[in-house]
Amino acid sequence: MSWAYLNNAFHKKEEVRISPYDRGFLFGDGVYEVIPSYAGKPFLYEEHISRLSKSLNEVSINKPEQWEHLKSIIGDLLKKNNFFNQIIYIQVTRGQEGRRSHTPDKLTSPTLFVESSELVTDLLLTSYKPPYINVGIEEDPRWSRCDIKAITLLGNVMTLDSMSDSGLEEVIFYKDGIITEGAKANIFLIFGEKIVTPPVSKNILSGITRNYFINLLSQNNFNIEEREVSINEIEEADEIWFTSSGKVLQMVQRINNKTLLEKDFKNTIGHKAIELFRQDVLV
Ligand code: PDD
Repeated sequence: MSWAYLNNAFHKKEEVRISPYDRGFLFGDGVYEVIPSYAGKPFLYEEHISRLSKSLNEVSINKPEQWEHLKSIIGDLLKKNNFFNQIIYIQVTRGQEGRRSHTPDKLTSPTLFVESSELVTDLLLTSYKPPYINVGIEEDPRWSRCDIKAITLLGNVMTLDSMSDSGLEEVIFYKDGIITEGAKANIFLIFGEKIVTPPVSKNILSGITRNYFINLLSQNNFNIEEREVSINEIEEADEIWFTSSGKVLQMVQRINNKTLLEKDFKNTIGHKAIELFRQDVLV
């Protein structure tokens, strides 16, 4: 049996309910976080909670009343669901009102929803290889505040849906000829020894995994640069990675079914990055 938490109580996942008058349901009026937990310990917890707090501030949603107890709620949830590695989902909406009104009532109490499920990963195995994926390229159809981790993800969903029949699992989004990110991850491009990732802006999410790899790689003397990357530079890239909390680091093998990466995985910079991550997290 798996458990979820809503407002003040734990519920069996199949029994948890909200009202359709919740503003999250009516307007997509809410924000969220996704936190991986390895061996019972949430990874980069403070960074995720501080980004959630920032998202709430940006959209002027009050902190839910259980905010100060969030860590212990998550601890209890992890124990109840009892998988070795888990992925934690936290969603806060502006809350439930009695009618549909675009302009929110400032006194509405936010809704807090937390759930976790098994994080299936081979990261613990010494033979670990990051997933190789086939991706597309699309003009970024999303809104102009992608720095907020909003639950409103229609642009991301439509893009991934339209690509799934061709076996494409991610997308390289670009705006005005400049690469932004993926639909569910940040992007890194490797040119020779140089590791490049787009700078934080309102067009991308300041990914916790992105920031973690930037620090980890620069501490280990890799040549890493945050700069704008033109969509035309893709052809020159030796490797492309996507980073996110759920998948850590995925390597692009093909773009629109055209092979990008032919090197043996062991000779890639992506492999070195993953090994540094494994030493850091799993030891
Ligand atoms: N997605 N950019 C977008 C658009 C994302 O949706 C995500 C993560 C990231 C990476 O952020 P982080 O490293 O903090 O996970 C970047 C999550 C995992 C999701 O929506 O499930």
